[in-house]
Amino acid sequence: MTDKIVLTGIKPTGMPHLGNYIGALKPMIESSKTQKSIMFIADLHALNTIYDPKVIREHTYQAAAIMMALGIDLNNTLLFRQSDIEQIYQLNTILMNVTPKGLMNRAHSYKAAMDKNIANGTDVDAGVNMGLYTYPILMSADILLYGADIVPVGADQKQHVEFARDIAGYFNNIYGTTFKMPEPVIGKETGLIPGLDGRKMSKSYDNTIPLMAPEKELKKKIMRIITDSKTPEESKDPEESTIFQLYKHFATDAEIAEFADMFRRGGMGYGTAKTILFEKINASLGAARAEYERLMANKHEIDAVLDNGAAMARKIADRMMTRVKKAVLG
Ligand code: TRP
Repeated sequence: MTDKIVLTGIKPTGMPHLGNYIGALKPMIESSKTQKSIMFIADLHALNTIYDPKVIREHTYQAAAIMMALGIDLNNTLLFRQSDIEQIYQLNTILMNVTPKGLMNRAHSYKAAMDKNIANGTDVDAGVNMGLYTYPILMSADILLYGADIVPVGADQKQHVEFARDIAGYFNNIYGTTFKMPEPVIGKETGLIPGLDGRKMSKSYDNTIPLMAPEKELKKKIMRIITDSKTPEESKDPEESTIFQLYKHFATDAEIAEFADMFRRGGMGYGTAKTILFEKINASLGAARAEYERLMANKHEIDAVLDNGAAMARKIADRMMTRVKKAVLG
């Protein structure tokens, strides 16, 4: 274990799917076992799209319960709700003043919203609220407040971490070195995780397998994976099969080799292959799913973990915020 602090925020936007699990959650759980980690549920970041407090609350519990059920190492990890740390709102306000508006104009997510509006012939800023526009400032506050060294993110979030570095630089230039420069780390390429229809697994394609789907639903989804019409006897290319592409992430090397071999030799039909895939995923996630369901029925246990994490995070936050206020306000 190094002393470097790894920081991650998870936006509570609903049940993650197997693609999110393989690409992001699983590596986070692994890293928590060997690194000092700060992990929070970024509920404030969801406020620009979710206006129902019940939904925010439930999604926040869900995200926390998932991390706990998957075995996040709480000995090395502070797990808490972003909104429980009052210093976040304070630092956000301060950082606003050293952040050039032009930087926000260049943010990918804001530009995507503008491009969509332009294509539709509506006002460029239609539907854009300040929560979306200033999202990168709040995210910078998250990263800088705890002195994070390493921020593992998906490629889509890399620009935000670079903005956090820019903003740290603007601040340090004016007020003297206060913030550390965080490093974005882009996860190992896990390759494309295909969804039920073979396209990238994504909520926007409606082709996902939910991470904590109950057994029956999991089976139903897997049986619905679209295949070509090869007969069981025909040889199949595993690289072209969604079933194999998913199986790869749950099986051992020996099992993967055997599965690929059975596809290539012919003799294994898609029905059998799907049953094998279902059994593998069910065995590998079954215990976590049971624990997830237990936690969701005992939310006070989730609260206890989140409250404890928040109490410790607040201590770090308070130290940093005292320095920041002194630097800015004297
Ligand atoms: N914006 C991130 C996402 O949408 C979530 C997030 C919020 C985050 N604050 C963060 C990620 C700080 C890393 C560090 O996925």
